Amino acid sequence: MKKSLYSVSFVAFAALAVVVLPFGSPSVTTAEEKKPTPTEEQSSAETDQEAVERTRKTVESFDNIFKQTIVLITEKYVHDDDDFAAGSAAVLLFKNISESGDNKIRLIDATGDPYEPENVAKDDFEKQGIKKLKAGAESHEQVITKDGKPYLRALTPVPVVMQKCVMCHPHYADAKKGEPIGAISYTLPIE
Ligand code: HEC
Repeated sequence: MKKSLYSVSFVAFAALAVVVLPFGSPSVTTAEEKKPTPTEEQSSAETDQEAVERTRKTVESFDNIFKQTIVLITEKYVHDDDDFAAGSAAVLLFKNISESGDNKIRLIDATGDPYEPENVAKDDFEKQGIKKLKAGAESHEQVITKDGKPYLRALTPVPVVMQKCVMCHPHYADAKKGEPIGAISYTLPIE
């Protein structure tokens, strides 16, 4: 009785091994079968990538407009440290844009010594991004989902573009050439 039980369990084990082994061993065919067909994978990935790319282009356009404007205002309108700074104009402009629609934009410090304590990296994305930009990265970005909708978050560097910046931010004089002293933080819906 005992003997037959052993042989039954051995047969069962052997059968199990035969069934399990082909799946357990790595096989090219199995790996390929699990993948969706290339066209399906490509088309869905492409649509998302295209939308992300479009949003990235929008960030680039905004970024260029804002930075050109900050330089223009500083060059033409700011003559002494009592004048309404481009930094103040940018902070106000970004606040109004952020409150009036889906695009959220902030101007933040990267030196550890902001003019206004409010203008600092607040969440992990911004804190990590500042570190990356200071280490020389051109931008830092992440796709997130908020209330079921996808958004592109991006951080772009603000260097000391002109000598006049130092008039109100004296410590910018310590920044190495090209090193960012600030950043613009974008959160734009991916559409
Ligand atoms: C006339 C003085 C003045 C000049 C010139 C000036 N800023 Fe500012 N900047 C300010 C003030 C004031 C704020 C705070 C604005 C606010 O929060 O309302 C600020 C804020 C900033 C911030 C956000 C972080 C922080 O420190 O609060 C950055 C980044 C910045 N400025 C960069 C620049 C750059 C780059 C230039 C040169 C193109 C420049 N600033 C020229 C006065 C100035």
